[in-house]
Amino acid sequence: MKLQNIKLIGTIVVLSAVITGCAATGTADERWVEYRSWTKITEGRVSTGDPTGFVGTVHAGPTGYRDIFVNKIGIATNQGSAPYNYPVGSVLVKEQYKDKAAWEAQGSPDLTIMVKVSASAAPDAKNWRYAPGLTAKPEENAFCSGCHTAALSSDFVFTNEDFFKTQ
Ligand code: HEC
Repeated sequence: MKLQNIKLIGTIVVLSAVITGCAATGTADERWVEYRSWTKITEGRVSTGDPTGFVGTVHAGPTGYRDIFVNKIGIATNQGSAPYNYPVGSVLVKEQYKDKAAWEAQGSPDLTIMVKVSASAAPDAKNWRYAPGLTAKPEENAFCSGCHTAALSSDFVFTNEDFFKTQ
């Protein structure tokens, strides 16, 4: 093989590695890429306001509209009752829309995601990772977990069946 051809093949191999690498970082985590097929726990419920009193200016604030999806691993705990202790692998995905019109149009909402990565007998902030978007890397996030500590007694998850019963 001519030297030129070897160089060309080398360049192609390097280029495709770069392209694949880029695609991987821009891809949603496989644990939640299919979240739209999960149970939408907010179906038929009021999806706006500030029912917990903790939303502040995050999650599109009190005038925003939101929907929450829970995966198969977490759904039994979410629909069960206290004491809450989500199994490892539980994922909650929250869609948020700036207003009712955007919510009804169901365009491409902002997403916030939480995933349980480890277990303990009592709820512990270290067990959860937070991702501020579909392709964002889930991390321990003091901003997210700080506020979600208000839901400590229900394993850092505000929205569950018991909560809906109070509405
Ligand atoms: C200032 C408080 C606050 C902060 C900061 C916050 N959240 Fe929340 N989050 C809430 C409240 C309150 C709810 C309950 C539903 C509602 O009122 O919209 C909620 C709900 C959620 C839910 C649905 C499950 C549940 O707990 O009901 C997810 C997922 C979520 N938040 C992820 C995140 C992520 C990721 C971050 C950080 C980027 C974050 N949150 C930051 C207050 C907060």
